[in-house]
Amino acid sequence: MTVRDAALVVVAAGDGERLGADRPKALVEVAGVSMIRRVVATALQAGIASIVVVHHPAHHDDFEAALAGLTVAALVPGGVTRSASVRAGLAAALAAARRPAVVGVHDAARCLVTSALFAEVFAAVAGEVIAAAPGLPVSDTLKVADESGAVAGTQDRGGLWAVHTPQVIAATTWQAILAWGEGGEEATDDLALVERARDAGVLAGTIRLVRSEDAALKVTWPHDVEVAAAVLHHRERRGSDGEVA
Ligand code: CTP
Ligand code: MG
Repeated sequence: MTVRDAALVVVAAGDGERLGADRPKALVEVAGVSMIRRVVATALQAGIASIVVVHHPAHHDDFEAALAGLTVAALVPGGVTRSASVRAGLAAALAAARRPAVVGVHDAARCLVTSALFAEVFAAVAGEVIAAAPGLPVSDTLKVADESGAVAGTQDRGGLWAVHTPQVIAATTWQAILAWGEGGEEATDDLALVERARDAGVLAGTIRLVRSEDAALKVTWPHDVEVAAAVLHHRERRGSDGEVA
């Protein structure tokens, strides 16, 4: 699919408890630009036709201000969990007058995403491929240990990937999941919904991971804000994609 037929739901309704800022995490600035503005500007730069922002319900006006001058299709309040926020955004995206062929979900906290990555992941969903997301093969050694840190053994990391967003799913696949009725369950990520539906025989198709950029950081802890800003400055010096005015 091309980005022209695409909708993107940006989930930004979280509190950002671990970050501990004085506002929802998506409104926190990284290198002088709020994360939500950065992500929406990058998605627009990628040419994605329709963008739905799921905002923190207590901060509608602050989100509107953060997005001033950027065209979004809808700004809808989020829910108590990420899954509930995804459902709210998805409903708005699928109800748009210009029906998208494919709908992606992206975490506002993944503010280092580039327009090239958006384009690549959306392009991956075509034909047999009904869903795609960026990821990286795990490079760390994986140990199995209990809460105290006592090691039981080492896990083979072969075939294991760490998966990020955007997670992009064909609109017909989303509809099949919603009609199935199990989409309401909490899932760790959006592709997991597709996997469950496929395992249950509700739909068929390939789910694909696209190798992502190394710097696919999700801003979670205070230190991450500085790391993300450093990555952006580095890119700026190299003159690469992902800059937002
Ligand atoms: N999110 C959301 N609605 C929620 C919870 C999370 O839209 N009820 C979004 C966040 O805004 C974020 C993404 O889901 O962009 C990933 O969640 P996470 O990084 O955990 O963000 P927070 O939940 O805000 O952070 P924390 O868990 O530290 O409170
Ligand atoms: Mg959270």
